[in-house]
Amino acid sequence: LECIHITAVGSYTPQFTLTNDELANRVDTSDEWIRSHTGIRKRHIAGTEETCSDMAVKAVENMIETCNVDIAKIDGIVVATATPDFIGFPSTGCLVQQKLHLKTFPAFDVSAGCTGFIYALETARGMIATGTMHRVLVIGAEKLSSIVDWDDRNTCVLFGDGAGCVLLEQTEESGGILDCTLGAEGSGSAALAVTGEKNAICMDGRAVYAFAVQVIGETIKKLLSDNNLSIEDIDWIVPHQANERIISACAKRFSLPQEKFFLNIASYANTSAASIPIALSEMVEKNLLKTGDKVILIGFGAGLTYGGTLLTW
Ligand code: ACO
Repeated sequence: LECIHITAVGSYTPQFTLTNDELANRVDTSDEWIRSHTGIRKRHIAGTEETCSDMAVKAVENMIETCNVDIAKIDGIVVATATPDFIGFPSTGCLVQQKLHLKTFPAFDVSAGCTGFIYALETARGMIATGTMHRVLVIGAEKLSSIVDWDDRNTCVLFGDGAGCVLLEQTEESGGILDCTLGAEGSGSAALAVTGEKNAICMDGRAVYAFAVQVIGETIKKLLSDNNLSIEDIDWIVPHQANERIISACAKRFSLPQEKFFLNIASYANTSAASIPIALSEMVEKNLLKTGDKVILIGFGAGLTYGGTLLTW
């Protein structure tokens, strides 16, 4: 299973941004409250006509441009999303395939809330290992603005839109994805759900917070101990970007160095399944990831689900 690598990354966020002050004109909140409780300063919001698959395609185009990828060699697309273009079908993966003018290979969606990207990456890795696919686009794309109740201050301040993608393939190089652990606690499904009269995000913030702090820490510890590594061996932890305070609380409780966690939530808010590939893309752009770096990706969210991937960059 080794030698399956992320060989390219890309991302896209809509041009339009909504600041905390602008949100405070609509609901009873403030820049001070949002920043101090979440670390968020602004979020990108898609236009009404712009769909999840549109954003996914733009992330792939960004990857093609910046990483010199030959798109014709792609033979699989896995899209992690909770906000597909269509409820039911066709899948966003098939729409992305169509919009990229590609043909015949498998394309589908994975639904695991904010852990979606970790689930999708592991699905693609397994299918590469069995030979079903060889060069796979793994995409996280979300138009959360379409399922946010813009009158609910408890949730509307937290989310944003965007997409990120990686190319996953087997190469001659050693390393790549070394291990993955996935989990779900379906008994907690009501804590974070798209429901109610408005069919919008409803959340028990404190329950999600407590769950997140615990599973992030436990997932990191499990990946370290299963692979005979210590936290000193890890160069970066790239968590799902839900709330800066979740990360601080987790670092404190599990004695993890907070400076190893990459955070960019200030600019994007929570983009659910898109947040990890957007973060990876930004890290590559800023030259933060060096060949050979050991990296842990951590997802957690609706389901309730969680998962972590250990890899050598
Ligand atoms: N502005 C001002 N006040 C607010 C706001 C707001 N935007 N939102 C809530 N408040 C108020 C509440 O009404 C409450 O007031 P009350 O005490 O008078 O009732 C007060 O602030 C404190 O509320 P808490 O819920 O205790 O606030 P807390 O400090 O826990 O922060 C938060 C809330 C940020 C939502 C936190 O619980 C959290 O981050 N939870 C995790 C959320 C998360 O990550 N969700 C996404 C998971 S990923 C996915 O799958 C989508």
